[in-house]
Amino acid sequence: METLSTLNLLAVIHLLLVGGILVCGFIEVIFEYYGLYFDKSFHHNAIRLHCLVDSFVEIPLFIGVAVTGGYMVYHLETITPLHYLKIGFSILMVLLFFNCAYETFRRYYLLKRNADEQVLIASTKKMMVRNFAIVGVLTGVVICSGFWLSYHRLIN
Ligand code: HEM
Repeated sequence: METLSTLNLLAVIHLLLVGGILVCGFIEVIFEYYGLYFDKSFHHNAIRLHCLVDSFVEIPLFIGVAVTGGYMVYHLETITPLHYLKIGFSILMVLLFFNCAYETFRRYYLLKRNADEQVLIASTKKMMVRNFAIVGVLTGVVICSGFWLSYHRLIN
């Protein structure tokens, strides 16, 4: 009977965690946009919600993705230049995510200290452009290269 190799098992867990990150990201974009452009009374709730989602869901998911990714690197037989590229972009993405999480917490403390509404709106807009756009593009690159590498490992 064929058994699932450690690498394939790690790849499945890695992929599930990546799926969780994507779902989180989409939901965050939806409620941040909603609070900013459709119902301004929701903006403060969006700030609180984003902080909760980051703390209890997204940060653990990112840690899990980095750990499973690291284990995969350890178990790989050959590491090609595309692997280095994929891993480099992945590390960049994880670092940018933690910067995004830092901004999210900073904005939450601004809200708690009754900061001016314009300051909060500016912080949300900055986050939308810098984090969602840049991290969004990086996510596409990392996911496509990850699939490409896994596909070629499996057919070889
Ligand atoms: C430090 C963090 C990370 C490291 C070290 C890492 C490393 C790896 C490695 C070694 C592979 C397997 C390549 C192969 O099969 O030859 C892989 C696959 C993959 N990675 Fe990552 N990764 C990291 C983070 C991420 C992130 C943040 C994402 C996307 C949000 C991501 C998306 C993927 C995808 C979609 C695959 C293909 C999985 C499959 O279909 O089996 N990775 N990663």
